[in-house]
Amino acid sequence: MGEYNKLFEPIRIGKLKVKNRLAFAPTGMGTAGPDGEITDQSLCHYVARARGGAGWITVEHSLATYKHIKGPIGFHTNLNFRGMWELSHAIHAFDAAAIVQLSIGLGAQYFKGRRTDVELVAPSPIPYRVPKGTSCRGLELWEDTEGEAPRELTTREVEELEDDFVQAALRIERAGFDGIEIHGAHGYLLGAFISPLSNQRSDKYGGSFENRLNLLLNIYRKTRAAVGEDFILGFRISGDEHIEGGLTIEDTCRIASILEKEGIDFIHLSSGRYEALNYLFPNDEGVILPEAQAVKQAVEEIPVLCPNVHSPSLAEHAVLEGMADVISLSRGLIADPEWPNKTREGREEEITKCIRCNNCLKTLFSGFSVRCAVNPEVGRERFLPQYYPPPLGFK
Ligand SMILES: Cc1cc2nc3c(=O)[nH]c(=O)nc-3n(C[C@H](O)[C@H](O)[C@H](O)COP(=O)(O)O)c2cc1C
Repeated sequence: MGEYNKLFEPIRIGKLKVKNRLAFAPTGMGTAGPDGEITDQSLCHYVARARGGAGWITVEHSLATYKHIKGPIGFHTNLNFRGMWELSHAIHAFDAAAIVQLSIGLGAQYFKGRRTDVELVAPSPIPYRVPKGTSCRGLELWEDTEGEAPRELTTREVEELEDDFVQAALRIERAGFDGIEIHGAHGYLLGAFISPLSNQRSDKYGGSFENRLNLLLNIYRKTRAAVGEDFILGFRISGDEHIEGGLTIEDTCRIASILEKEGIDFIHLSSGRYEALNYLFPNDEGVILPEAQAVKQAVEEIPVLCPNVHSPSLAEHAVLEGMADVISLSRGLIADPEWPNKTREGREEEITKCIRCNNCLKTLFSGFSVRCAVNPEVGRERFLPQYYPPPLGFK
């Protein structure tokens, strides 16, 4: 082990021991089949990242229900069980924890061009608006644009989402995964219920701070009751939405502390929403660390994950100084899945660095599967035998 000893110290998440402090952050790749199936390409893409040494692999934004959105990986049906099972086993074969990021949908931020036969729905009929000067590199075309007004979900429809989430969670558990990250970040459907900017409901799911948390808390409590204490349940949230009227870091610290008392196993910070893409996909290094640090101070014990740290030295420093417990890498592991192994083996200079050009996002948001400007293997892992999953039963 080289100079990055802290990054390679094991950490306990709930009942699970994870081999190091490096996670593959949830990263939508656009490779699911038509009904949300995990394809050979999805499988080999995750094998590459698990093989590269990250202790924790988060499977991208996946859906608990296909009622209001279609396209991403789906845990809404038993028909996808074989792919789920193969994926959890492939990740475990490399001694990595296998966590699924589970979502109830994209809400008002579901683009028209990606929508097929489903209606745009949200807590309230408020479209997203991308203000000038808030884009990340590569998505400037979105600036000064506005989405369509979504339909407000009925109270009954929201209640159904809670049960859909529990059913999907049970499938994920049965398929052999270690846990779930509840996706409440980025202004997507669950995040929109939490944010005062997008939730102006007058039923039990809106209005006060407490009411805006009801959907999240019901999802958490019902899922915990169904999956039991040993299964990991974490939560991802945008620490600050960086838009007037949106969620602030003070709100997020309060939410994190409430969730910790409820028994959540980890908090994964992100930042921003479509109105603040420069925080969601930052152009600069370490932008989200201050938000992670604030949440770390608000919770007693549970681990806090933070993305957007691409350099091993800042990653080591952030964990050593208690700004975060785990560094989650998205673009860093797209550019080079071997980042963890190379860092651990003192081969840091061999890392293919992400140049934050966001070609990954440009391809994804254009409806293609992700491609990377510095890693030509991305999107083609299924043709490269080193990324084939080990034979089932290997471990
Ligand atoms: C191509 C791409 C897809 C992403 N998909 C997701 C996703 O499915 N769920 C999520 O919570 N965040 C997603 N993100 C955000 C990342 O998890 C991460 O927070 C962000 O990119 C900043 O970290 P980084 O600098 O390590 O990329 C995505 C990012 C990229 C670049």
